[in-house]
Amino acid sequence: MDIDVIGLFPEAVRGFCECGIIGRAQELGIVTVRFWNLRDFAHDKRRTVDDRPYGGGPGMVLMAEPIARALDTVRSGHDAPVLYLSPAGRVLNHAAVMELASRPGLIVLAGRYEGVDERIMRAAVDEEWSIGDYVLSGGEVAAAVLIDAVVRQLPGALGHEDSAREDSFVGGLLDYPHYTRPEVWRDERVPEVLVSGDHERIRVWRLRESLGRTWLRRPDLLEGRKLDAEQKRLLEEFKQEYRGYGYE
Ligand code: ADE
Repeated sequence: MDIDVIGLFPEAVRGFCECGIIGRAQELGIVTVRFWNLRDFAHDKRRTVDDRPYGGGPGMVLMAEPIARALDTVRSGHDAPVLYLSPAGRVLNHAAVMELASRPGLIVLAGRYEGVDERIMRAAVDEEWSIGDYVLSGGEVAAAVLIDAVVRQLPGALGHEDSAREDSFVGGLLDYPHYTRPEVWRDERVPEVLVSGDHERIRVWRLRESLGRTWLRRPDLLEGRKLDAEQKRLLEEFKQEYRGYGYE
């Protein structure tokens, strides 16, 4: 996959993309991420990319022309959808990430200030995405979040192929709890089942914990979802045990 990031602080995203899973995916040739500074596409010596909003008001607005020029340059390399990151976009979720991961390329535009001139949005932006209902100082952090979520879904990006499959949300449920060594830490033992070596019991325990956690923390994910007979039974068991501890 080819990803191009355009913004005022592309270096911030570059640093992030050199680390961990994304860094490794780049080394393996699974993804190539390129970075473009909007100021390089300004048409004056002072490299101006923003101006005051028509109609007045606080802040500055990114001008259409530098963005159009940047997109012309980037697009001459490959034709990919242009994604603009802003709190006004569609909120990213697992299904959307999987859809984005199926594309051969992405052009990610990170905004700043009060936003970008609406005319470039209409002329060149294909999709607007938000990473949540809060406002960041700029789209770079959101771009890093989107790229991270997408790249880890690309075949071969994770060392262990099961890791992405078992992530939270993959089956529409939250992840089960994890434990590692030592077996006893400050008097607390890991759940016995996990050291039993019995794979079927471990599978059932994990499924039960996933269902229970989802019910406790994100009941909205269970709404309208059809559970099979085993899942129903395990969730009931979890609820009874939970209530048995005196919780409601
Ligand atoms: N830019 C500023 N806030 C944002 C958000 N919540 N999501 C995506 N881009 C943003």
